[in-house]
Amino acid sequence: MSALLLAIVDYDFSKWERCFISLAPERDLRVWPARIGEPADIRYACAWNAPPGLLASFPSLAAIFSLGAGVDHLAGDPTLPDVPIVRVVDPDLTVRMTEYVVLQVLMHHRRQRRYDIQQRERVWRDIDNQPAATDVKVGIMGLGVLGLRAAQALRHLGFQVAGWSRSPKPLPGIASFSGEGGLDAFLAASEILVCLLPSTPDTQAILNLGLLRKLKRDGALRGAYLINAGRGALQVDADILAALDDGTLAGASLDVFPAEPLAPDSPFWSDQRVIVTPHNAATVTPMALARHVLRQIGRLEAGLPLENVVDRTRGY
Ligand SMILES: NC(=O)c1ccc[n+]([C@@H]2O[C@H](COP(=O)([O-])OP(=O)(O)OC[C@H]3O[C@@H](n4cnc5c(N)ncnc54)[C@H](OP(=O)(O)O)[C@@H]3O)[C@@H](O)[C@H]2O)c1
Repeated sequence: MSALLLAIVDYDFSKWERCFISLAPERDLRVWPARIGEPADIRYACAWNAPPGLLASFPSLAAIFSLGAGVDHLAGDPTLPDVPIVRVVDPDLTVRMTEYVVLQVLMHHRRQRRYDIQQRERVWRDIDNQPAATDVKVGIMGLGVLGLRAAQALRHLGFQVAGWSRSPKPLPGIASFSGEGGLDAFLAASEILVCLLPSTPDTQAILNLGLLRKLKRDGALRGAYLINAGRGALQVDADILAALDDGTLAGASLDVFPAEPLAPDSPFWSDQRVIVTPHNAATVTPMALARHVLRQIGRLEAGLPLENVVDRTRGY
């Protein structure tokens, strides 16, 4: 039988291995680097940060499965074989990201950081200027699987929601902006900017000072906020710090960073206006990932098209 290889770097692969074994004990499962066996046996690879050149060494490879929704971890491999790359789209992952986005929007909207400080100081005081959600504008960069669901959840809470994507999206209740031409108007309609873009050559360092200065600061929240749960390569840390210093940003929630893990001496850790999380806004469970990969392999072997295949020219 065609072998499935787990090529997982930076994580203990054993939890994924256990899930694949329990769901498909008959499947010939190999693990890099310990148990590759005969390279020509390997037809499928489930990869995360695999070393460049590794996937090219399997001549029978028919599909690559990314361990995450993003596939930027594969982009640095110039020898990547020309086979379909499938990314993770999973309902549980989508719900988790929606939870993260709603939580962070509400943290800023409801001034929770300031109440945290007041609690530490045992201060019982209502902070003025709590606008209604219906008066607050939230902009979501990236209206894909994750961005769209988060946008809808925020809309249900009453926020005024806009989205920015490459192509226009006619969606009920969500203002759609697209492309370079729509970016400035989108930013001007965003007090809280949520970034759920993929990391591609077009989106590198997009969250820079110039862009942040175009956010709406005179809205109901009386300040602008950034929430980045896309990828660290999208943001310029020094620019975000400068934006916090000069009042361009009133606060931020950062789940991802250009260099991870975030360095212990990063000023983000101690900034009371910033919420730092360790790139865990939404992770797919090993069991859901194994089910998703086996379902796609089943489709391929039944002659059906793979789902959620990455468009290599777009990079996502
Ligand atoms: N922090 C975490 O824990 C975590 C977890 C999962 C995923 N993520 C990140 O979230 C990203 C988004 O996931 P997804 O499943 O929602 O991806 P997706 O379905 O592929 O959606 C990507 C969205 O970004 C838009 N886009 C891409 N390039 C653009 C550009 N140059 N200009 C304007 N819009 C652009 C796309 O526009 P079109 O709709 O017009 O194509 C689409 O709306 C992933 O790539 C990953 O980096 C992070």
